Amino acid sequence: MINGGQRLKGEVIISGSKNATLAIIAAACLCDSPVVLHNVPLIEDIFDMREILFSMGCKTHIDAHGVMVIEPDTLNSCFAVHPKMKSIRAASYFMGALVGRFRIGCVSMPGGCKIGSRPINYHLDGFEALGVKSRIVEDKIFLNAYGDLIGGDITLPYPSVGATVNLMIAAALAKGKTVIKNAAAEPNVVDAANFLVSVGADIKGIGTPIVEINGVKKLVQTSPYTISPDHIEAGTFLIYCCIAGGELTLKNTRLKDLEKVIATLREMGAKIICENNTIKISCQGRLKAAHITTGPHPEFPTDLQQLMLSLMAVCDGVSTITETVFENRFQQAQELNHMGAKINIQGNTAVIEGVEKLNPSKLAASDLRGGAALVGAALKAKGVSIISGDNYISRGYQDIVGKLSSVRAIIDYYG
Ligand code: EPZ
Repeated sequence: MINGGQRLKGEVIISGSKNATLAIIAAACLCDSPVVLHNVPLIEDIFDMREILFSMGCKTHIDAHGVMVIEPDTLNSCFAVHPKMKSIRAASYFMGALVGRFRIGCVSMPGGCKIGSRPINYHLDGFEALGVKSRIVEDKIFLNAYGDLIGGDITLPYPSVGATVNLMIAAALAKGKTVIKNAAAEPNVVDAANFLVSVGADIKGIGTPIVEINGVKKLVQTSPYTISPDHIEAGTFLIYCCIAGGELTLKNTRLKDLEKVIATLREMGAKIICENNTIKISCQGRLKAAHITTGPHPEFPTDLQQLMLSLMAVCDGVSTITETVFENRFQQAQELNHMGAKINIQGNTAVIEGVEKLNPSKLAASDLRGGAALVGAALKAKGVSIISGDNYISRGYQDIVGKLSSVRAIIDYYG
């Protein structure tokens, strides 16, 4: 429940990256030692990954400060077939983790936000290049390397985040060299690669389109690994400030991950000052319309596209968004139009005629970032809005109600 119309003011500490943590938890399964992670976000997706690991015998522990311990040597099953596999996309990383550790594995088809078909063909074709045969039987994928994984050359048809992470995990302990061409370079992919290197993997070209992994014999952690800040959460709060107006200071950010987003918001009229790992943003009046196209890093991140849709709904002028990554990521447009927005979807492009105000409404979230975008719209609409489906939002944002309340938003859980 949000009573909108309040300008935001105050400081928000950004949590660790959801998507980096999910990849690193899977990568940790390759290790011969316990793995300690710091700055882990306390969100549903992480708890789901723990449940899945528990179902495979793997002991884990997490405390209220985001310190997580994983004991990979307690893994006693190569079957990741827990019901939660259907609720998170990152469950697909258990393919790389299980074949990397056991040379064999069975996982349920991964789920995730309904923002597109989200096939896993790039993952399976990449495994094939490493000597891993896969077979899909009903809703399960069976994988078998028939012995050691052998390094190979892989060219991804698209710089897929998931495929890049999965293949790096599988290749880390393979025999010989693996080269992934057209690899993804998102901050969460870089963080996953940096974690693997921190436990002894030999990976070159991190953050570039050509990643080279020379297989090593084993991976052992010698000191805790700290998860990088969540650039999507940081971008979310920057856009909230642009929608509701006011001033925010974001702590624990990593500016280089947000260059495109910050440049876009500045062009629209936001005043943004960056210093070390702090971002200060101030928005006084209506921002100007803009035109964005999403794409693989360093282009505009698709995960902030839905937040931008809510912002553009109240900007001055006609904006456009072209979504090139997923085929169904404008779902919350109709909810925004119920609030008085003027959004017209034409294929993979949204045309948004900015309006001065939005009306408070009963809204339904249908995916993680779309739900966060509806929160943004409700922060703007004067009066009480109620958003159902907060379970989607809590999957990816730690304590969003507490963080927004601390910067003067009037928000609480309802019912
Ligand atoms: C990851 O999804 C993120 N999820 C997504 O974040 C993010 O939107 C996406 O990367 C892009 O940055 C996690 O990290 C857990 P892709 P992923 O593989 O790995 C197609 C969020 O809100 N494709 O880069 O699924 C695919 O359908 C979530 O935090 C294939 O066709 O993204 C999509 O159109 C949402 N075949 C495009 O590539 C494949 O085998 C990009 O997908 C794999 C992908």
